[in-house]
Amino acid sequence: MNVLILGSGGREHAFAYSLSKSPLLTNLFVAPGNAGTSNIATNVALNITDFEAVKVFVLENDIAMVLVGPEAPLVAGIYDFFIEDEQLVHVNVIGPSKQAAMLEGSKEFAKEFMERNKVPTAAYQSFTASSLKEGMSFIDSLKPPYVLKADGLAGGKGVLIIPNADEAKQSLEEMLVGGKFGAASNKVVIEEFLDGIEMSVFVMTDGKSYKILPTAKDYKRIGEGDTGLNTGGMGAVSPVPFAGEELMKKIEQQVIIPTIEGFKKEELVYKGFVFIGLMIVNNEPLVIEYNVRMGDPETEVVLPRLSSDLLAHLHAFKNEQLDKEVVTIDARAAVTVMCVSGGYPEAYENGMVITGIEEVTDSIIFHAGTIRQDDRIVTNGGRVLTVTSYGANFNEALKKSYHNTAKLHYDRMYYRKDIGFDL
Ligand code: AMP
Ligand code: GLY
Repeated sequence: MNVLILGSGGREHAFAYSLSKSPLLTNLFVAPGNAGTSNIATNVALNITDFEAVKVFVLENDIAMVLVGPEAPLVAGIYDFFIEDEQLVHVNVIGPSKQAAMLEGSKEFAKEFMERNKVPTAAYQSFTASSLKEGMSFIDSLKPPYVLKADGLAGGKGVLIIPNADEAKQSLEEMLVGGKFGAASNKVVIEEFLDGIEMSVFVMTDGKSYKILPTAKDYKRIGEGDTGLNTGGMGAVSPVPFAGEELMKKIEQQVIIPTIEGFKKEELVYKGFVFIGLMIVNNEPLVIEYNVRMGDPETEVVLPRLSSDLLAHLHAFKNEQLDKEVVTIDARAAVTVMCVSGGYPEAYENGMVITGIEEVTDSIIFHAGTIRQDDRIVTNGGRVLTVTSYGANFNEALKKSYHNTAKLHYDRMYYRKDIGFDL
């Protein structure tokens, strides 16, 4: 079977790495990919939100499966584009329909879905410019800190957590009236602050049944001790050590089952990955957010722990046969440490020559922002490389990742040396 992966980050390299182990695979393409994916697949220069261009490539290369990495093509409706086209309807697109992708594309849509389906989450209300005054009164009715979320996609930057009411009101005004996050903040969800510990669960579903993938915890802040600006993710650990059997049972019963049943009840067509961000408060799971794709860098620790055939599982989505698949998980822990460009998540420069990759033999290096330039590999993004290792526990795995990260070099390389510090 020929497969096309859409995206260019560490997540897509990890997908390519997993799929390339499958005996079911014939040709693997990644659009646009990076220097890492070019070692195990064919990179294709495509704009992944230009669906007509994707269509031409899919037909010319007899692609049977399109695995969508990032949210943008999903929210823009790539699933529906394929289903509605006679020439493409046979292709197995791994991802939710446009309507279901609203679970990530609109915070209000996600909160209303959770409310209807009794999925535990923080109390909330949503506001627009015309209800700014009511929003301010709502802030007065809550205890600090205040959580303000731009309704639409804001590149992971749309959530503000503000310690005092006056500042929260000012930010609400900037979002609703001042266009702080552009159209994404024309509507703002204000919600109760949840004081707990975060983790994520990943589920794959063909719309009929589901399989739970390994849990993970990522580290979003740029600075050690979880300080400084938010990033796409600076590292991850799987499994989450505190997620024991009892908590996982609760998560399945209280969160996963009502979510999957909700898709069916509401006829939200969903054949893909569900990434559920949780806050565990007094040993009870509450949903912070849904993402309609896998996480990055969570994928770089979740997929290496999947020991069964990912391509076979995904192939089963097309005819809703996922219930017949047997998912097996490696008992070892996996961790990843992300190396970024100096300056990230603010301005940074590309084009730094990367050395040391071939010296690493006992970790897996997933490329994120890299590109081949003649016979060299150079940086090409904020997040550059991530170093994944296995261990009997996460500490042992971290030792390996840090030992190997030290062998890598490019100008102004930075990474956090405290991944897992809070566990
Ligand atoms: P999100 O973009 O929805 O993942 O939110 C970004 C981060 O804000 C989350 O990873 C949490 O750390 C934090 N957050 C979001 N909602 C809440 C909440 N209701 N209470 C506490 N922290 C939250
Ligand atoms: N690492 C968080 C995300 O992929 O959204």
